[in-house]
Amino acid sequence: MKLTRRLSAIESFIPQNSILADIGCDHAYLACDAVQKGIVVKAYACDVKQGPLNAALSTINENNLQNKVIPVLSDGLQNVPEDANVCVIAGMGVETMKMILSHEKIKQFHTIILQPNSDADEMRKWAYEHDLNLTDESIVQEGHFYFILKYVNEPAAYLSEKEMKFGKYCTHLNDYKNYWNFRKERLGAIVSQMEQSAKKQELAELLDQINEQLASL
Ligand SMILES: C[S@@+](CC[C@H](N)C(=O)[O-])C[C@H]1O[C@@H](n2cnc3c(N)ncnc32)[C@H](O)[C@@H]1O
Repeated sequence: MKLTRRLSAIESFIPQNSILADIGCDHAYLACDAVQKGIVVKAYACDVKQGPLNAALSTINENNLQNKVIPVLSDGLQNVPEDANVCVIAGMGVETMKMILSHEKIKQFHTIILQPNSDADEMRKWAYEHDLNLTDESIVQEGHFYFILKYVNEPAAYLSEKEMKFGKYCTHLNDYKNYWNFRKERLGAIVSQMEQSAKKQELAELLDQINEQLASL
């Protein structure tokens, strides 16, 4: 199976020999590939809708993984079996992710990998306030830019406001620089066309921070 760059980056954060719960698995490409590569010993391909689960089942059957990738109809973590110890939540909005992560079953996972569709800063802040420890990050451009955040389920080490906004572990990556240059150009164009206002001031300050961050790379 050939994973996209985004799914490959997510997969690279999964610890060896774990039992994966892929929440919102859609076609279960990630779960099947991680089992085929021997990264995980078993995977639960979970989705809230039957349609994606049917697609998951096709991928499982096509790859003869019936014993190792198990489809689970589940709203968030609700029906995830107890032996899963690594959780991936990818390709969703931050608000859905927060709802999923707020379930008490989150305690069973030692590693939690998140790929919000946008607003990675908000995701970092929420996870920090809910005592998840950010241990690695990546960013991948696949049409859009996607941040991938790896958490260990332990008290959060200190993160500065700047690290929450800009990230901590991925500043060396090319796509990181590309992303902030892209944001800088877009924001610059917007700010230059705005009338003087509190909103313009706020965005101009963000633009200054982006320039500062880019200069520090
Ligand atoms: C855009 S797809 C992402 C698929 C895959 N995770 C990826 O990153 O390529 C989002 C999937 O999440 C599922 N989903 C949305 N909310 C969910 C929830 N509360 N619990 C489980 N799955 C959910 C949707 O049904 C859909 O299949």
